[in-house]
Amino acid sequence: MNKPRIVIVIGARPQFIKHAAFELKAKDIFDLITIHTGQHYDSNMSDVFFTQMNIAKPNYMLEIGGGTHGNQTGRMMIAIEEIIQKEIPDFVLVYGDTNSTLAGALVAAKLNIPVIHVEAGLRSFNRTMPEEVNRIVTDHISSMLFCSSDEGKYQLQLEGITENVFVTGDIMLDAFDSYYIFAQNNINIQSLLPEHIIGKYHLLTIHRPANTDNKKALQNILSALSIIDDPIVWPIHPRNRRILESLVIPNNVYLFPPFSYFEMLAVLNGCKKVITDSGGLQKEAYWAKRPCITIRPETEWIETLENKWNILTDVSAVSIKAAIETTVQTNTWKPLYGDGNTTSYISEAIINEFKKMP
Ligand code: UD1
Repeated sequence: MNKPRIVIVIGARPQFIKHAAFELKAKDIFDLITIHTGQHYDSNMSDVFFTQMNIAKPNYMLEIGGGTHGNQTGRMMIAIEEIIQKEIPDFVLVYGDTNSTLAGALVAAKLNIPVIHVEAGLRSFNRTMPEEVNRIVTDHISSMLFCSSDEGKYQLQLEGITENVFVTGDIMLDAFDSYYIFAQNNINIQSLLPEHIIGKYHLLTIHRPANTDNKKALQNILSALSIIDDPIVWPIHPRNRRILESLVIPNNVYLFPPFSYFEMLAVLNGCKKVITDSGGLQKEAYWAKRPCITIRPETEWIETLENKWNILTDVSAVSIKAAIETTVQTNTWKPLYGDGNTTSYISEAIINEFKKMP
């Protein structure tokens, strides 16, 4: 049997992590051709992930970063279409919910090439989030859908998608399992953070447009954090750069350039709690057994809300402070999102599907 030939489209930071996990275990089973759209392009948002996790150099680098959503997605589609027509893969695989995901899926579906969606069935039910639109469209044009939990499968069922839906666990857990202990042993947290905050800090990330494109919302969040006694470690997403100069940064908030994946895992291990609006970090906080405060009206990862491991809050100081001060019973922790072998389950399903192809 020939190896299934799969074009994989990646472009944003969380996709490099997911792809590292997939490639590590699947590279010998499949003929993988990778397209990096360039959506994230700074060396600390992109290159460092490839180097650190030993990801193969992408076969195609598109350098399509910036621009409005339509402009960015459109330019990606034009370039991806040319490549797919040339490579003629058996499948096109996309991860998550970014504009790179949408662009890859749309092009493949229109060329009648089966789309594989990893992290399918997630919904925030908030269509003002660009990611929500990307998820809905991608799911509805995919031929194989891999869900992180039963909730995803259930949601797809409600939307009429029932064929070729698999609950395989979450691919980010494969990455987390491979590197969490390694990062603790190999990253020297003293070289990253000031000595006096080690053992005392919370970890903050904020990058959703709803929180960062609105100066008032972000200033509210920062003001709320200023009344917390503990220090806060904040690696800045490039999206925040523009707005940062116009903000008052409280004395207990320490700013850093984006951390690499291993640095992030080590800093996560050293923190007391996580405060975030990121999707991926909510899961990583859970796996690391760190309580999470999510500054959003809703979450796609609803399982993490059980027993207050994850608390949703608005941007008001009172809500954020109350959420940080909430105690979590550590004995309520139970495994979520699979067993860390998601890549193997996905690979098996793809092979089975490939065997059925003419
Ligand atoms: C994207 C994804 C989001 C994902 C997040 C992870 C979409 C719609 N959103 O949001 O699902 O959770 O990545 O980080 O695809 N920029 C730089 N340097 C970089 C990367 C971006 O300066 O390396 C700038 C861009 O030019 C842009 C801004 O940051 O002005 C936002 O980038 P964008 O591509 O919209 O995606 P994210 O907000 O990062």
